[in-house]
Amino acid sequence: MQEALLLLVLIIYPATVVLATSSGPPISLPGCPDKCGNVSIPYPFGIGDDCAATSHNRYFALMCNNSLQPPRPMFGDPSIAVEVIDISLEHGEVRVYGDVSYICFTSNTTVSDSFDVGLSLEITQLIPSTRNRFTVIGCSALGIIQGNTPDPYVAGCYSYCQDIKSTSDGASCAGMGCCETTIPPNLTYFVTQLLNQSSVWPFNPCFYAMLVEEGWYSFRRQDLGGHLGFMKEKANRGVPVVSDWAIRNGSCPKDGAKAPKDYACVSSNSYCVNAGNGPGYLCNCSEGYEGNPYLPNGCQDIDECELRKQDVKYKTLYPCENGHCRNTPGSYRCKCWAGTRSDGTNSGCRPVLSQAEKVVIGLSGSAMVLISLACLVVMKSQRRKYKKEKDEYFKQNGGLKLYDEMRSRQVETIHILTEKEIKKATDNFSEDRVLGCGGHGMVYRGTLDDNKEVAIKKSKVIDDDCREEFVNEIIILSQINHRNIVRLLGCCLEVDVPMLVYEFISNGTLFEFLHDYDHKSPIPLDLRLKIATQSAEALAYIHSSTSRTILHGDVKSLNILLDNEYNAKVSDFGASALKSMDKNDFIILIQGTLGYIDPESFVSHRLTDKSDVYSFAVVLLELMTRKKAIYIDISNEKKALSHTFILMFHQNELRDMLDSEIVDDEVMVVLEKLAELVMQCLNPKGDERPTMKDVAERLQILRRLHLQLVTKTQPIQAHYSYGGPSASVPSDEKGYQSTETSKLVLEIDLAR
Ligand SMILES: *[C@@H]1O[C@H](CO)[C@@H](O)[C@H](O)[C@H]1NC(C)=O
Ligand SMILES: *[C@@H]1O[C@H](CO)[C@@H](O)[C@H](O)[C@H]1NC(C)=O
Ligand SMILES: *[C@@H]1O[C@H](CO)[C@@H](O)[C@H](O)[C@H]1NC(C)=O
Ligand SMILES: *[C@@H]1O[C@H](CO)[C@@H](O)[C@H](O)[C@H]1NC(C)=O
Ligand SMILES: *[C@@H]1O[C@H](CO)[C@@H](O)[C@H](O)[C@H]1NC(C)=O
Ligand SMILES: *[C@@H]1O[C@H](CO)[C@@H](O)[C@H](O)[C@H]1NC(C)=O
Ligand SMILES: *[C@@H]1O[C@H](CO)[C@@H](O)[C@H](O)[C@H]1NC(C)=O
Ligand SMILES: *[C@@H]1O[C@H](CO)[C@@H](O)[C@H](O)[C@H]1NC(C)=O
Ligand SMILES: *[C@@H]1O[C@H](CO)[C@@H](O)[C@H](O)[C@H]1NC(C)=O
Repeated sequence: MQEALLLLVLIIYPATVVLATSSGPPISLPGCPDKCGNVSIPYPFGIGDDCAATSHNRYFALMCNNSLQPPRPMFGDPSIAVEVIDISLEHGEVRVYGDVSYICFTSNTTVSDSFDVGLSLEITQLIPSTRNRFTVIGCSALGIIQGNTPDPYVAGCYSYCQDIKSTSDGASCAGMGCCETTIPPNLTYFVTQLLNQSSVWPFNPCFYAMLVEEGWYSFRRQDLGGHLGFMKEKANRGVPVVSDWAIRNGSCPKDGAKAPKDYACVSSNSYCVNAGNGPGYLCNCSEGYEGNPYLPNGCQDIDECELRKQDVKYKTLYPCENGHCRNTPGSYRCKCWAGTRSDGTNSGCRPVLSQAEKVVIGLSGSAMVLISLACLVVMKSQRRKYKKEKDEYFKQNGGLKLYDEMRSRQVETIHILTEKEIKKATDNFSEDRVLGCGGHGMVYRGTLDDNKEVAIKKSKVIDDDCREEFVNEIIILSQINHRNIVRLLGCCLEVDVPMLVYEFISNGTLFEFLHDYDHKSPIPLDLRLKIATQSAEALAYIHSSTSRTILHGDVKSLNILLDNEYNAKVSDFGASALKSMDKNDFIILIQGTLGYIDPESFVSHRLTDKSDVYSFAVVLLELMTRKKAIYIDISNEKKALSHTFILMFHQNELRDMLDSEIVDDEVMVVLEKLAELVMQCLNPKGDERPTMKDVAERLQILRRLHLQLVTKTQPIQAHYSYGGPSASVPSDEKGYQSTETSKLVLEIDLAR
């Protein structure tokens, strides 16, 4: 790794040095500073609005903080406050300092200033490069990184210290003392977090988690020891994160098409490259030119012959053995000396070809003809193969097994549709018919021949191990008949990935209902309780009422649909149910969604019914606060709703957290009980969480309690004081408090 980086520096440096000197071509707009301290600022970046290409991205305008020595460039918006380390035009990268999340323990305190840490690059349109690694340092430390790619993405790694004596400084982060995982492309934003685990080794008071440039960190034993030592010594300004930038607003003009008006590759002798990470494009100088392609005449001819004279390494880069070098625009010419002749590539001279070499060239020529003939034959057979492939997919996707099962179990509720029928129903998967896309695939609205409206889900590729499970799941789901679960009507197995056909639910998702800010209308508490109760009943039903426990595995407000009477319908099961993970893998990737994932599933490597309980608690929080599972707080920071809630609850600041629409002294007791229920569901230990059945029952009771409170407050008053407003109960009595709660509600039940 270290070598690779060094090499990179060697290659980039000559060009950068030439650019930075005053004699070289300018890299910034006329009259604009081209540096801030030691850092070159090439256009489209610039210091201040007038010096940057702000019409493409206002964050190209940087700020130079001159009060520091040497001055340092920062992103212009104070709300971001991210420092720039360097900018590369050639690779479309900018390196910035990112934060480290850490938890430190001393005998009597916990320091965890930055439990959730993200880098607010999203609005700057920068995307973390895949050259970064998510790295965790510590003993028994579990770190996770969550983000959107735009599909939800979660990964994590676990580092341990059992054999720490055999690990020496400089070792790679393979799990001992530190661990690391890669990140995917197109990560639009991310949060890193450390999960708080009680088993702390006495010599390891601090854990760290960070996204950092690959190769920057190598293990040092002392980083496990000191209280914040790593932060003070090695990461005092943050850690380098490589981010990819591009002209996000547009794309390369198609061949022959006219360039758009605000096309950024304005230099002659430049060309356009589509961005490798995320949308947009970059510009590059044509071969033989160097400089800044974003400025008029920014790309300047390279004088190869001059460079050959300066340094030996250019003699191999621009070969002209046995010849005389002459520079030309964009290239150079090698004029051969007597007795030799050009080898045709204009880069050297060779003696005249011998007979043997001619034969070899002739042979390879006829090979080309043969290859093209073969291609024609292959193309013809493709068509025939297609039909065969369809049958093959049907078999692979478990179609035969499904047929057999259905015949033997007399399943009649599920229909197997052909690819043709599905295409017809969705107008060939027309974009107008997309209802949404999620972690598991795209969902289309379809109309069957009998005018029945359906939702068709096109799954992502599933691997062979899952196929059998998938068919089992279809059979089980076809037998589920619950009014709060979206019905599976059919499936199609003829294509490379299976497709599922569900009943169509008219009124969108709970997520849209709660968080759609365009037409945000008040939602009464009773309706919220109804949606919560119905969803909980549906989940309790699949956990306990069927012959085999089915896990949802991806409970979130986006997977709860609402019909035209605002009845909840839980959707999107099956694809993720009963998924177990490989214990030997440090790199864990599980299905699930940012902000909803049960932390324990990372440690145990498997999802349980209690993982659904945890995720459901986050949905309850959304209903109570009308905030998203990952939301942006007033200081413009990304927060996990579950974490903030736990903190606020312990600080007795529940009221501030709740949606002001539903806060009302009269019903506060309901909200407090609800908050306690949520706290129990968010218990880090799955075993101590209530079951989904308990949750559903308690929600039913709370719903009734609420109804009574708003209709006739009088008879309730007595019990109210008996249970006591829970906010005043010290938290160490919580276990006691919860039994008290059920007593309270039981008595109310009787009173009815
Ligand atoms: C940055 O500039 C200062 C002087 O302003 C110099 O002392 C320092 O070595 C430079 N650092 C780098 C990395 O070039
Ligand atoms: C993107 O381009 C369009 C037209 O090319 C322009 O109107 C718009 O302002 C640009 N947006 C940004 C953020 O630069
Ligand atoms: C420059 O940096 C200093 C020290 O970090 C900071 O106090 C100051 O606010 C910064 N100036 C601006 C304009 O951001
Ligand atoms: C631009 O060209 C150089 C030299 O050919 C190459 O190394 C670099 O990757 C190119 N940049 C992009 C963004 O394609
Ligand atoms: C932690 O304990 C040390 C002695 O063990 C004491 O000096 C210090 O004040 C304590 N800190 C807090 C915050 O209680
Ligand atoms: C982490 O866990 C320890 C022990 O369980 C606890 O004392 C501490 O308060 C927790 N810290 C945070 C930030 O939750
Ligand atoms: C990333 O995004 C670009 C453009 O948005 C897209 O072409 C590319 O396929 C995406 N890559 C992945 C791995 O999703
Ligand atoms: C779907 O595409 C096929 C060809 O691929 C075409 O024959 C058919 O008319 C299309 N159907 C619709 C509804 O667009
Ligand atoms: C949801 O249903 C209600 C009542 O039927 C209706 O007024 C509303 O427009 C619907 N909303 C959506 C998004 O379909």
